[in-house]
Order: sequence, then structure tokens, then C-alpha cells
Amino acid sequence: MVTITNIVYLISASFFILGLKWLGSPKTARKGNFLSMLGMLIAIVVTLLDKNILDFTYIIAGLIIGAAIGAYAAKTVEMTAMPQMVALFNGFGGAASALVAYSEYVRVGAHMPLDVSITLVLSLLIGVVTFVGSLVAYAKLQGLMTGAPITFPGQKFANGILLLIALVLGSFFVAEPAVPTFLLVIIGVALVLGITSVIPIGGADMPVVISLLNSYSGLAAAMTGFVLSNNVLIISGALVGASGIILTNIMCKAMNRSLANVLFGAVGTADGGGTGAKKDKAEVTQYTAEDAAVVLDSARSVIIIPGYGLAVAQAQHVLHEFAELLMQKGIKVRYAIHPVAGRMPGHMNVLLAEANVPYDMLYEMDQINDDFQNTDVALVIGANDVINPAARTQKDSPLYGMPILNVDQARTVMIIKRSLSPGFAGVDNELFYDPKTMMLFGDAKEMVTELVKEIKNI
Ligand code: TAP
Repeated sequence: MVTITNIVYLISASFFILGLKWLGSPKTARKGNFLSMLGMLIAIVVTLLDKNILDFTYIIAGLIIGAAIGAYAAKTVEMTAMPQMVALFNGFGGAASALVAYSEYVRVGAHMPLDVSITLVLSLLIGVVTFVGSLVAYAKLQGLMTGAPITFPGQKFANGILLLIALVLGSFFVAEPAVPTFLLVIIGVALVLGITSVIPIGGADMPVVISLLNSYSGLAAAMTGFVLSNNVLIISGALVGASGIILTNIMCKAMNRSLANVLFGAVGTADGGGTGAKKDKAEVTQYTAEDAAVVLDSARSVIIIPGYGLAVAQAQHVLHEFAELLMQKGIKVRYAIHPVAGRMPGHMNVLLAEANVPYDMLYEMDQINDDFQNTDVALVIGANDVINPAARTQKDSPLYGMPILNVDQARTVMIIKRSLSPGFAGVDNELFYDPKTMMLFGDAKEMVTELVKEIKNI
């Protein structure tokens, strides 16, 4: 039975790996998600058949309750609230790993080999930090506590000491596994560390932190896999750990920030709304939807640049309708997707997929950046930092060095947003004041709806 189980685990693991590969492209992402789910289902079924460790009543009750909560959350959560839902689920993953590892200690007692006691300590430490840290991330994003960085003198030092205490206690436990008090104190220290390590991070940096906590939850699961000698848990945990850290790295690179700056820099405001000075709308050239429709009607090519404001306004469906209208008029329409547009990885891809925008209309920054110079209209919808030329020129700007979309090279730039407020980075955008820029002030959904109406009238 053990051999069969391990063969099935190997099949599950290959499903996870192939699933992850498919998740790398919007075209194959659904298939990848399905294959990974199938891999997990097979792994769960074979584990349940192999190990009759619990009464099946508990397992079935747990499955029903868990599935009901998961399905309800997935159906009802707003797209913009996705980061906090992921945070919450990560946190539960960390807690589950820690609980399973501890219950194994209760079951087998102190007679455990060295590798099991070491991984038990690590599972508890990482699992509990992930759980509490994720709850803090959730509270920040959900507005249950301030999103602004909370700092106190000596915070980094205190966190370092807490980690050291946990590791020293861990080594005491490994030397003397008969003393559960060591484990209980480690749990207490991890509870505090989870809070103190996440509170200094600004709400707007939370997506990076959530990705990092996701990686931790994978590590905790892998450690629990060692405690249980369960191969599929070790493999799936390692995959989550590795992919989480790769994603964290991609996000940091695209924001031109180091992970240390995100974790310890205490950057940003409560919601990433920015701190730059607000200028007067009178300083820029305002246009109406009617003016914009006339320009669009005579364009041959349009590139649409979606940003965070598109998600806030939920304007993706009407935007799709608008793009179809332009295409019916023979205008070439494409979407330019910046890697960190919005507030979570793949935010714009998911949003546009929800509105059934064909994948082949979506272009990554590197694919489309050279085409702006030959484009009639760059239509920016609720994006700001990802098009801000200060990233190229202003050395003292927090955006300096971040690769941006070359929107300013298009013949005409149209920007839909509600005001002159800066975006996440809190930096003013000189593009608003460029003579070739048409500012269309308003909520993205309302403005694009008006554009649709005006284009139909022409
Ligand atoms: P931002 O620079 O944050 O700008 C969004 C703009 O949308 C704001 O200036 C806002 O201006 C406008 N807006 C908000 N609600 C709107 C509405 N209802 N209708 C129309 N406009 C609306 O967004 P971006 O260009 O997408 O850049 C993303 C930023 O987030 C980058 O700095 C990135 O580094 C950061 N970030 C991204 C991620 C990921 S993974 N995507 C994670 C963490 C941080 P008004 O208030 O004037 O309307």
C-alpha cells in the first residue's frame, strides 16, 4: 500500500508542477488551476484511504464546512478584496500546518528522531508567524486597523531577539523533546513575532507581504510533511514556498524595491493613496467624453492602459464593450499590461478576463513598449504610477528606476481618473500637464460609459 500511495503522490506532484507551469500564461491558467486541484484531490483521497487515523465523520464534516466557507468566499468576494482573502487563506494554511504538527507530537510523544523534532519546531514557528502575520495583513487591507506603518524604536532589534529566543528554545526542545513547555513558549513568541513583523509594513505594500507569507505557509506545510513523513505534503509545501518567493521577487523587481525595503522600510500611507501635493485641476487641460470620442473616432490605433482605478470602478465590462465598438470601426485596439498595475499580481489580467477580453489583445510591457511611438491614442484608465515619466528622469523619486509603459510617446494621451491625486507611490505625474494629454476627469466606469454613448452617436 505504501508503494502505491507514493506512486499516486508522485502523480499528484507532477500534476502540481504542470499546473504551475500552465498558470504562467492566461491562456492556460484555468487548465493549470484545474490540474492542480485534481492533483490535490487525488492526494487527499489516497491519504484518507491509506491512513485510517480519524473517524470519517469528522473528516466529512470538516470537508463540508470548509467547502461551504470556501465556495461562499470565492463567489462573494469583490475583485479588489482578493488580496485580503488570499491573506486569510494563507494564514489558515499556516495554522493548519502548525496544528497538525503539534497533534503529531501529542500522538507520538517524546520519542521522536532528530529530524522530526527539528521540523516540528520549524513548522510551529513558521506556521504560527504565518497565521498571525496574515491576520494582521488581512486587518490592514480590510480597514479593521490602520494601514499606515506602525513602528516603535528598536523594532527590528526586538524582532531579531524574538526570533533568536524561538530558535534557542527550539534547540532546547530538540535536545529534550519530553518538555512540551519549550514548544508552548515558541508558539507564544511566534504569535508576537507575527504581529511585530507585519505591523511596520504599510497597507499598500501588503500584496508583497502576502506573497511572502504565502511562501512561509508552503514552508510550514513542507516541515509538517517531514514530521508526518508525508511525501506529497513535502513536495507541495516546497512548491508553494518556492513559487511564493519567486512571485515576491518579481513584484519587488517590478516596483524597483528591495525586499528589505518593503519589509523594513515602513514606506507608504494607509492605503497607498499617496502623499504628493494636490494640484489644481485648472492647471491641466480638461476634456469631455464628447471631445475624446471625436479624437478616438479618427484614430487608427489605440492602446488601452488599465490600472488600479479600473478595478476600483469595476469598469472592465463597459471597457470591453467600448473596445469592441472601436474595433467595429476598424481601429486597432490593444491592451498594455504593466506587471505591477493594480494591487496584486496579474490583477489586470484577471479583471479583463472576467469581462471576456480575448487574451491575444493583452500585451506585456516588453512586447508593446516600442509601439507607443506609432500609436495614435494611449488611453489610460485609472493608472498612474505605471505611466509616470518621473520613473525615468527624477532620481529622487520613489519611482525612479521602475520600468514604465511609454505612454508619453503616443501621439495623443487620454487619462481617465477622478482628480489629480497621485497613485500608490504618492508622486505627482507630469504627464497630466503635457500639452498632448487630454484629462478626462471622472469615475472610470461612468466616463467609459459616456465614451460608449458618444462613440455610438458619431
Ligand atoms: P496607481 O498608481 O495606484 O494609480 C491609480 C489611480 O487610479 C489613482 O491615481 C486614482 O486617481 C485612480 N482611481 C482610483 N479610483 C478610480 C476610479 N473609481 N475611477 C477612475 N480612476 C480611479 O495605480 P497603477 O498605475 O495601477 O500602479 C500600481 C501601483 O501599485 C504601483 O506603484 C505598484 O508598484 C503598486 N503596487 C502594485 C502591486 C501589484 S502586485 N500590482 C502590489 C503592491 C503595490 P484618482 O484618485 O484621481 O481617481
